[in-house]
Amino acid sequence: MSDQKGFVLWFTGLSGAGKTSIATPLSEQLKARGLKIERLDGDVVRQSLTRDLGFSKEDRDKNIERVTFVAKLLSRNEVGVLASFISPYRETRAMIKSETTNFIEVFVHAPLEVCAERDVKGMYAKAFAGEIENFTGVSDPYEEPLNPDVLLNTHEETIEESIAKCVAYLEENGYIPAS
Ligand code: ADX
Repeated sequence: MSDQKGFVLWFTGLSGAGKTSIATPLSEQLKARGLKIERLDGDVVRQSLTRDLGFSKEDRDKNIERVTFVAKLLSRNEVGVLASFISPYRETRAMIKSETTNFIEVFVHAPLEVCAERDVKGMYAKAFAGEIENFTGVSDPYEEPLNPDVLLNTHEETIEESIAKCVAYLEENGYIPAS
């Protein structure tokens, strides 16, 4: 029997801050250690479970509420969940914490200028040109975590360093066995 606990490693941050770039290889590393891991990712979930939703506050909250329901079922059954969503509202993130088992808030931080310069999906250029409404950080709010469990400054550290911080947190808090 594995001595893994259920947990929810919740990556919040601006588009382009690095949430998916960190969570994806981290999930592969944890799976390679024999741990039960599931990924929930904004861009993926929004093509299925929450395909009907947009980016108003109401729709973003519905998006996170549905995902929280899934994360709740998994985390209470000893699965480690790696969730990556902008999840811009503090109050909504507090709701996720109250609903799930062993919620860990990971703030994936990079200054807006850095995210806009990376512009991986070409969306910031469109948002600054006024072609996309309610774009987080440009024409929609992002409420930074005040006291995140893990802080990743992706403009100053490598993906490997960010991953190592998450693994250390999970090991030090007894959510996964030490390697
Ligand atoms: S959340 O606010 O509801 O948590 P989520 O993480 O699921 O957002 O989806 C964000 C992704 O949707 C972004 O990475 C981007 O690719 C895309 N997107 C499309 N429109 C917007 C918008 N107005 N604001 C932010 N992201 C958007």
